[in-house]
Amino acid sequence: MGQSLIELVEDEKRLLNSLGLEISIVSVSDSNGTCIDEKGLNPSEILKYKRLEWKNFRKFEKGRSVLDSIKHVDSDLVVEMTPSTPNGEPGLSNIKAALAAKKHVVTSNKGPLVVAFNDLMRATRKNGVRLLYEATVAAHVPVFCLVESCFKADELEGVRGILNATTNFMIGEIERGGDFQKALSEAKRAGWVEANYSDDVDGIDAARKLVIVANALFRKNVKLGEVSITGIRHIEPIIREAKRTNKKVKLICEISRHRDKLDLKVGPKVVPRKDPLSNVNEGDMGIEFNWKISKKVFVSAHFQGPKQVAYAVLNDILRTNSSGTSCC
Ligand SMILES: NC(=O)c1ccc[n+]([C@@H]2O[C@H](COP(=O)([O-])OP(=O)(O)OC[C@H]3O[C@@H](n4cnc5c(N)ncnc54)[C@H](OP(=O)(O)O)[C@@H]3O)[C@@H](O)[C@H]2O)c1
Repeated sequence: MGQSLIELVEDEKRLLNSLGLEISIVSVSDSNGTCIDEKGLNPSEILKYKRLEWKNFRKFEKGRSVLDSIKHVDSDLVVEMTPSTPNGEPGLSNIKAALAAKKHVVTSNKGPLVVAFNDLMRATRKNGVRLLYEATVAAHVPVFCLVESCFKADELEGVRGILNATTNFMIGEIERGGDFQKALSEAKRAGWVEANYSDDVDGIDAARKLVIVANALFRKNVKLGEVSITGIRHIEPIIREAKRTNKKVKLICEISRHRDKLDLKVGPKVVPRKDPLSNVNEGDMGIEFNWKISKKVFVSAHFQGPKQVAYAVLNDILRTNSSGTSCC
């Protein structure tokens, strides 16, 4: 997806310029090393040499780490897109280093936010920079930027959402008559699951996203262990029963507020057809906010591929109002 972002920056260059915006990519890292040009790397050249595993690219320094480039390359903003892990690393150290160096950070990596949301936000305030993370929850469905721009003076009572695309795809397969194993094979074939699929089917990925939502939108300090989690391994009888009464089953992520306390749950739920979440199908995701004044607001988006997620990252970059970018 980092590559989709670089492609997008190139494709949208003219539009960005017409808006008076310019993104200059000064450094890009992968697990092998870093390429650097403080005058600006050419996006097409980055993509070409990445495909060639950096062979003969004189701007590539094998073994040079992300942390080193964050500390020593002159940039205003760091885009952190390394894989999400339970302890947040290596993303957590990358983001901490970038904030300490007074650089804005945009990330699609939920790991660091699940582990240390409040610490990271404290670091942004201390250093006078922003950390934006729209793509971490429900990919390109607008959640945080929507709340920031439209609901500043309202109070959130609760949230319900479908936040894991893989399980939503699998539930669709089971509804059409497959069993759990067949749905899993289909999801693998369609590229929805990695070798380790437990995080998705056991509801853990969805719960991680719920933790980010709780800490960001309810201003709490919730940990993953506080979420009650049920996955979809035993969902077949629930789906059969729901079909009998013309209802749907979804893996619902839910936060309800009781005075100052939050109740966080992830689990399969039977939903009536009139519930907007019942129409979030296949690999799509959606979220319903329940506001004190604005009441129920529902937003969902059709997922077509990594380019849309890259767009959410690009939009966050533009929201920070900075120009020199470093990617990892
Ligand atoms: N794909 C989606 O639809 C989606 C949606 C929302 C959020 N996300 C999140 O966005 C992030 C990126 O997703 P992705 O699909 O692009 O993942 P990916 O294909 O696995 O790419 C991860 C990138 O990180 C690099 N990397 C891994 N370890 C590194 C290290 N120690 N130092 C420097 N670079 C390192 C990898 O380098 P190599 O190329 O050398 O392996 C690769 O380029 C993940 O956190 C994911 O959870 C993804």
